[in-house]
Amino acid sequence: MGNLSDSSIKEIKKIAEKYPTTESALLPALYIAQREKGWLAKETMDDIADVLELPKVRVYGVATFYTMYYKKPMGKYVIQVCTNVSCMITGGEEIYEHLIKVFGIKSGETTGDGLFSLLEVECLGNCGNAPVMQINEDFYENLTIKVVDEIIAKLKK
Ligand code: FES
Repeated sequence: MGNLSDSSIKEIKKIAEKYPTTESALLPALYIAQREKGWLAKETMDDIADVLELPKVRVYGVATFYTMYYKKPMGKYVIQVCTNVSCMITGGEEIYEHLIKVFGIKSGETTGDGLFSLLEVECLGNCGNAPVMQINEDFYENLTIKVVDEIIAKLKK
């Protein structure tokens, strides 16, 4: 133990108390750990396994299954662009291609200055307001390339 902060460990334990098995607290525990560290290193996942008294392979397996958990360091801003059907037909793909050009990176990569990571993702569950993207915890809807450029410019400041 020692990778996760005491406050994160406390928070994970508190959540685990609410469930009949500690396994049920695994997803929120991974979220809490990622919120603190920015991504899930092996040592971080080991800490979660210790706190929840779960086999380490179980924690690695769940973290690997879900794309929302990052297994490598990410940029300060993680931009997830949806290119699934509703977003695709309303310009999501153009926005994704535009960001590839703007940043010079592909999905899963991070800009050299460590500011932006780009992810092409499946449905973000906000199809009625397509095209959409998510930056860290924030959603941006009914996007155009112009609006995307404005958002990126603000984040760069
Ligand atoms: S298809 Fe993009 S949010 Fe559902």
